[in-house]
Amino acid sequence: MSILVTGGAGYIGSHTSIALLKAGYSVIIADNFFNSRPEMIQKIEQLAGKKVIFYEVDVTNEQAVNQIFIHHQIDGIIHFAGLKAVGESVKKPLKYYYNNILSTLVLAKACHKYGVDKFVFSSSATVYGDNKVPFVETMDLLPTTNPYGETKVMSERILTDFGKVNPNFSVSLLRYFNPVGAHESGLIGEAPNGIPNNLMPYITQVAKGKLERLRIFGNDYPTVDGTGVRDYIHVMDLAEAHVAALEHLTPGVNIYNLGTGKGTSVLELVKAFEDANGITIPYEVVARRLGDIAECYADVSKAKRELGWEAKRDIVTMCRDAWRFERYYEE
Ligand code: NAD
Ligand code: UD1
Repeated sequence: MSILVTGGAGYIGSHTSIALLKAGYSVIIADNFFNSRPEMIQKIEQLAGKKVIFYEVDVTNEQAVNQIFIHHQIDGIIHFAGLKAVGESVKKPLKYYYNNILSTLVLAKACHKYGVDKFVFSSSATVYGDNKVPFVETMDLLPTTNPYGETKVMSERILTDFGKVNPNFSVSLLRYFNPVGAHESGLIGEAPNGIPNNLMPYITQVAKGKLERLRIFGNDYPTVDGTGVRDYIHVMDLAEAHVAALEHLTPGVNIYNLGTGKGTSVLELVKAFEDANGITIPYEVVARRLGDIAECYADVSKAKRELGWEAKRDIVTMCRDAWRFERYYEE
């Protein structure tokens, strides 16, 4: 089977491409390197021991995307390509709506035109808004606080409506919780541009001495120790979940939470990182970050039941692997 992986040079897409190649799939990556680098393609090939086909294209460009379908037999698509900086999406909403919505539309149209009926979409736990934890797939979605989140809600809706009138179309909407960590080789991982917005890359950059200290956004939430609680999931577990999702696609819309089902607070993550790596992380508590919720973790029973998948790597492994990557990574 041949899978088109959009955004395959990015953080989650690169790890998933390796998992797909290892599982015997052929992989065609389409990426415009907006938030990634060309060297990633060779690294994927090196780690998987197999070649990929690569197209440097913007997947909002319909003509360019159609060329891929004309030249290759494609059995399924995993659509990772998207912009993901929440804060930037508030400042530049049109950029986010244009890129994230148009890419989904272009790919759904190509499915229709070229008879591709397997689609896996990168959604996010952000679509649950401030629901009561644990989040379950059957919950009503609540408004997100930013355009990024809305692009996920809208893309889910577009693919669902398309699926309703195309009975053979099988779509999996994967709602990721908080992906962290890196491939165990330390060769690939998360390398955000500029100062990281997310907690784990911030911690690893403090550990490396690139940043002075962690700023913890609030310690007055109604949680175990007052700091925000999230469901961190190792990126390789997430990668393997995509293989499981592809293998279990059935016609219609399939929605899955991908997390561990376990909440970890900011202070607990800092402690786990310190214990796992023997490094002290200096921190200070500052005001809450606008738009943050107190707790976010998944009910993961559906993925386990229907996909036969569950996360295997614990928080210590996540911290070790994140640090192994950061330690040797050179910009
Ligand atoms: P990433 O930025 O590392 O990877 C995205 C890739 O898509 C990049 O390589 C980028 O160059 C590419 N891209 C973006 N727009 C493109 C376009 N128009 N055409 C071609 N390529 C394009 O991000 P990631 O963390 O790997 O996230 C992958 C997907 O998962 C995104 O859709 C993101 O919204 C979603 N997601 C991520 C997280 C997370 O915490 N990382 C959580 C929930 C959902
Ligand atoms: C963020 C996004 C969310 C996205 C998710 C995964 C926001 C508001 N939300 O969620 O839409 O789906 O990433 O990519 O950006 N924290 C600190 N100090 C820091 C960074 C974070 O204390 O420097 C805290 C946060 O307040 C939160 C926890 O750490 O409690 C995790 O934060 P983060 O890694 O940014 O992820 P989310 O807030 O879950």
